[in-house]
Amino acid sequence: MDGKADGRKPTARSPTTWPGHTGERPRGLGIPSGKGHSPSLAPWAVNPEAPTPVRRLLVVGAGIMGAGVAAQAALVGWSVDLYDVNQGFLDRGMASLHHDLEALRERGTLSPEERERAESRIRPTLSLECARDAQVVLEAAPEQLGLKRGIFEELDRRAGPETLLASNTSSLSITALASATSRPERVVGIHFFNPVLRMKLVELIPGLLTEPGALARARAFAEGLGKTVTVSQDVPGFVTSRAMAVLVNEAIWMLQDGVATREDIDQAHRLGFHHPMGPLELADLVGLDTLLSVLERLYTGFRDPKYRACPLLVNMVEAGRLGRKTGQGFYPYGAPRPRARVVGSPPP
Ligand SMILES: NC(=O)c1ccc[n+]([C@@H]2O[C@H](COP(=O)([O-])OP(=O)(O)OC[C@H]3O[C@@H](n4cnc5c(N)ncnc54)[C@H](O)[C@@H]3O)[C@@H](O)[C@H]2O)c1
Repeated sequence: MDGKADGRKPTARSPTTWPGHTGERPRGLGIPSGKGHSPSLAPWAVNPEAPTPVRRLLVVGAGIMGAGVAAQAALVGWSVDLYDVNQGFLDRGMASLHHDLEALRERGTLSPEERERAESRIRPTLSLECARDAQVVLEAAPEQLGLKRGIFEELDRRAGPETLLASNTSSLSITALASATSRPERVVGIHFFNPVLRMKLVELIPGLLTEPGALARARAFAEGLGKTVTVSQDVPGFVTSRAMAVLVNEAIWMLQDGVATREDIDQAHRLGFHHPMGPLELADLVGLDTLLSVLERLYTGFRDPKYRACPLLVNMVEAGRLGRKTGQGFYPYGAPRPRARVVGSPPP
């Protein structure tokens, strides 16, 4: 529900009270300290005096990003439905978020009870029926326009009229996704970064028809998860993926041309530019299939050859060497995990 409903404007930087949290928490996870919080002024709160309503998020796609966002939202008190197309992918997503939350517990950032409580708020599901009860739906399916448009069509049929429909796309047109629905004014890009629990940024992308109220809700949602937002226009790759894809693609060209070894290319970026990881390591983290989709979107969107994907990248995707998620990319990562496959044919 928009803040408009009770005559208040949606507040972008409202402090919020989350259920079930007390005591100081380390910064950076978005977990509120429980001290100094005023009643919820989030845009979906009807009455700031009333108990905080159950906040329900549906995440569509339990891959790298979907599992990460589910964990982050559950940590701050959201009830999360995590959807995927088959049980194997759901199990993998739940295992991956368990692993990430367990790592925080081991580091002392989370208590065992907090980890358990967060996981208990996440319900894996093979049905999209729960879209009806969600205040926010975040789509995190593979980076393919036809597939995502099909998902938005279905979400439009199932979600309540007030539900905010969001996409985690790295590069695709929010306007094109929104046009698959009957409510383009309530569709927005909410672009999280990998790994979600660690990365502070969320890039917001309003489509051409997105209402300011929907953008404000997206901002409140992301900030409520402890993130800092920037806003970008709806152009291919927005700000972040456009810059990242060019750098990483260039590194792959250098590897293909034999300019340096993979280790030296990465080392040069880490030590020469103070990057936390080299571009080839970053490619493996992001997923080579996702990186290739982003480059193709930039190439066709801008019709500019500077975005032409390096043939080595194309071949690696063809070979199924997608990076960490398959156990092998530019570097090996031990036992391969089951490969995510696109299920469901894109609409014509
Ligand atoms: N990987 C990154 O670093 C990163 C960062 C920011 C944004 N993104 C974006 O997030 C989105 C997801 O990327 P990812 O890396 O998590 O991908 P992924 O391949 O790890 O996961 C995608 C998930 O979607 C599921 N899926 C397949 N078909 C589906 C369907 N029809 N309906 C619902 N789910 C379906 C797959 O089973 C898989 O679990 C993409 O749009 C990507 O561009 C990725």
